[in-house]
Parts: sequence; C-alpha cells; structure tokens
Amino acid sequence: MSEHVDTGPVCVLGAGNMGGQIAHQTALYGFDVRLCSRSEERLASARAESTKLLRRRVEKGRLDANACEEALARVETTTDFEEAVRGARVIIESVAEDREAKRGLFKRISDDAEDDAIIGTNSSTLPSSLFEDCVRRPERLLNIHFFNPALMMPLVEVVRGAHTSEETVHGAMSFARAIGKTPIRVERQTYGFLANRMLFIGLQEAFHLVQDGYVSIEACDLAVRNALGWPMGPFELADLVGLDVVEAILAEGARQTSNAQWAPPEILLQHVAAGELGRKSGRGFLSYTAST
Ligand code: 3HC
Repeated sequence: MSEHVDTGPVCVLGAGNMGGQIAHQTALYGFDVRLCSRSEERLASARAESTKLLRRRVEKGRLDANACEEALARVETTTDFEEAVRGARVIIESVAEDREAKRGLFKRISDDAEDDAIIGTNSSTLPSSLFEDCVRRPERLLNIHFFNPALMMPLVEVVRGAHTSEETVHGAMSFARAIGKTPIRVERQTYGFLANRMLFIGLQEAFHLVQDGYVSIEACDLAVRNALGWPMGPFELADLVGLDVVEAILAEGARQTSNAQWAPPEILLQHVAAGELGRKSGRGFLSYTAST
C-alpha cells in the first residue's frame, strides 16, 4: 500500500487504545511491528479490537482480505521489552500519561535501542524534553503524536524539542507518511501542541456550559455536530478519548501554563471519580452498550 520506506522493524510500547491501533496502522503499510505490553490481556484485547476493525473494512470492500491478514500477521505481540526494542528503527512509546513511569521506560529504551533508532513518544501533553536526560541520544528523541482512533485519524503531529536533530524530524515525517498519515511539523514544544490545544478549549467551554446549566449534554453535542460540523460532539469525543485521559491532559495544561482556564472542571472530575471513564468502561458522559 502506498509509499514504503524501508526503516526496518517498528516497536510500539504500550497496548492501550492508541498503541494497539498505531501498531496495526503501521503493519497495514508493510512494516513488521512488535507491540509490547507488560500485560498479555492488554495485548490480546488490543489485537482483538484492531482485528475487528480491519476485518470490518474487508467486509465493507475497503480493504483487500489478503492485505488485512498479512497486516495482522506482521504485528508480533510480546511482553519481552528487550526483544521488542532491539533492532527497531522506530520506537513509539504509547503508555499511560505518567511522567515518572515514562522516564523509567525511556531509560530502558535507551539501554536497548539501536543508536540510530528514532524514539518517539505519543504523549499528548508531555514534551519529549522531559525525557531528554533519560536517553543516550536526545537528538533522536521527539513527540510523534497520533489521534484517536489512530486507525482512522489522518493527522500526526511531529513535535521538535530543542534537543531533536533535523534529521530525526525529517525521519519521523517520512515515517508518518510511509504509514499513510498526514504529518505536520510543530517547530517548538508548547502545551497541547496544535490540535489538542484548539480542541481542548472547545471541550472546556462545553463542560462549563453544561455544568452551569445552560444546556444538556445531548443538546451541546447536537449543536456542535450540526453547527460546527464536528463528526462527534464534545461529550461523545471526550468519552472516546477517555475521561481519565481528558482529565490528565487538562491538569497538565493547568500545571504547564499556570493558567486556571485549563483546570479540569467538576463535571469531569465527578465522572472520573465514579469510574465512568467513557467508552472503555461502558459509561462516561453517555452510556454505551456492547454494540455502540
Ligand atoms: N476505532 C477505530 N475505528 C473506528 C472507531 C474506533 N473507536 N469507531 C469507528 N471507527 C471507524 C469505523 O470502523 C469505520 O471505518 P471504515 O470507514 O474503515 O469502515 C469509520 O470509523 C467510520 O465509522 P462509522 O461510520 O461507524 O462512524 P463515524 O462516521 O462516526 O466515524 C470516527 C467514526 C472516525 C471516530 C468519527 O466519528 C470521527 O472522526 N470522530 C472524531 C474523532 C476525533 O476528533 N479524534 C481526535 C480526538 S483528540 C486525540 O485523539 C488526541 C489525544 O491526544 C487525546
């Protein structure tokens, strides 16, 4: 499919919603992929989810059946971290947004990675400079940020840190194109990079309008879909992203910018405290059945 850049195997660390789909997107474009998680269960569910989505594409006539099965076969799942990282030309970290956990992970990556591997973090809010001191070759480190659902959303933000070399930015842009994505360069690190910064201003306004009793969740989603042309309303979208993730993004925004406009609002905190995290837990702002 399309342009194939021979960058050797790709390693995706973290088999959550994002990591699983990033791995399968990469395999669709001919790369051998190692998808690594500490948990066999997560690997199995990431694999099952992407398998379902890709086979549905085959049923709809949008993907050749052989191409689908070949892509699935190119994704090797493993809990062996060293084996996943060794020899990979591109390494994408996509674990939970926990700064300290990521710092530990980057130290391990740096021990096992090839010298010329591109090391990308899919973090939405943590700039790669926070991990600069964890790796041997900071010039190979940057943010490579995908959007949810990663099998569908074309944009990838390639965010340059002050430590990142031009060659690495170029390599990451080429890689993103080679896996069928539309990359943009973000020349300097800033909170939320580009798309999330704009999106989350909209989400915050929606949360406050509902919290303050101006409109219902349903009315707000309906309005944004019908007036602004968003494919999903802000509450549906927050549920897709995961309310714990949305909370973490906003809290990080408040921390990084010292601006209270980003602070997670009460309506969001209450759902997260109740374990209502969105689609992944069957209930968030809205309720989901197995078929939705
Ligand atoms: N995962 C993967 N694919 C999905 C999906 C999911 N959760 N839900 C639906 N899809 C796929 C379907 O399989 C179908 O694929 P196909 O065209 O290859 O057959 C396609 O999406 C269209 O599905 P539907 O017709 O059922 O549904 P929609 O027309 O509503 O499309 C959507 C679904 C693509 C998710 C669309 O609603 C959309 O674009 N939503 C907005 C998503 C968005 O804004 N994402 C950005 C979030 S912010 C972010 O990710 C940043 C992070 O850092 C927090």
